[in-house]
Amino acid sequence: MTFDRSIKIAPSILSADFADFGREIQAIEAQGADWVHVDVMDGHFVPNLTFGPPAVAAFRKHVKTVMDVHLMISPVDTYIDAYAAAGADVLTAHVEAGPHIHRTMQAIRAAGMKSGVAVNPGTPIEAIEHILDITDVVCIMTVNPGFGGQKYIDMTAKVRKLRALIGDRPVHIEIDGGMDPVTAPLMAAAGADVFVAGSGVFKGGSVNTPEVYGKNIAAIRAAAQAAL
Ligand code: DX5
Ligand code: ZN
Repeated sequence: MTFDRSIKIAPSILSADFADFGREIQAIEAQGADWVHVDVMDGHFVPNLTFGPPAVAAFRKHVKTVMDVHLMISPVDTYIDAYAAAGADVLTAHVEAGPHIHRTMQAIRAAGMKSGVAVNPGTPIEAIEHILDITDVVCIMTVNPGFGGQKYIDMTAKVRKLRALIGDRPVHIEIDGGMDPVTAPLMAAAGADVFVAGSGVFKGGSVNTPEVYGKNIAAIRAAAQAAL
């Protein structure tokens, strides 16, 4: 993974057919996905449950781009090695998931992955100001985590602040929740470069009509690029 601030689209397989993950991953990558976003939920940190390390290891066999694993779990640290073994390229933990986010970022890097920190809508960006030197991705949530298909919550001011805090550091700004051709440009203009989209990519398509995924990905990308 080399660092740049070009616009990247990361479809979330939370909106894919859960009985057909392999072909869904192949379809979104063939249709232009830059990263594949994998939402891990534990029914405790968030009120929904998805999949754990064995499923993520199975996804890995199909991912040729970047496997971006978003942990919505608490605690985190006891599972870091399991997600490294499952093949995560980026492992993201929530700043709200425990008292020691600095230790968590160190442990993720020590396990050989890029370190990500996610920030809920209600959490001030200052909460992660002092870990930027050991962080590769900051994920700004534009919905309350737990479910796909929710309404976008405006975080433009938070992203602008974050962009200034990052300065010249090689840190990606990722946006997660409600991204579509209307909302993505607002975030791109504020300084974001990675756009997670679940319903925004998968809506209207299927593994048998993957060109719909391609059209959705291209529309989000074009709208975000036009805002730069
Ligand atoms: C929400 C997840 C998101 C979700 C986004 O808890 O972290 O990644 O899949 O879904 P959309 O794009 O439908 O808002
Ligand atoms: Zn996510």
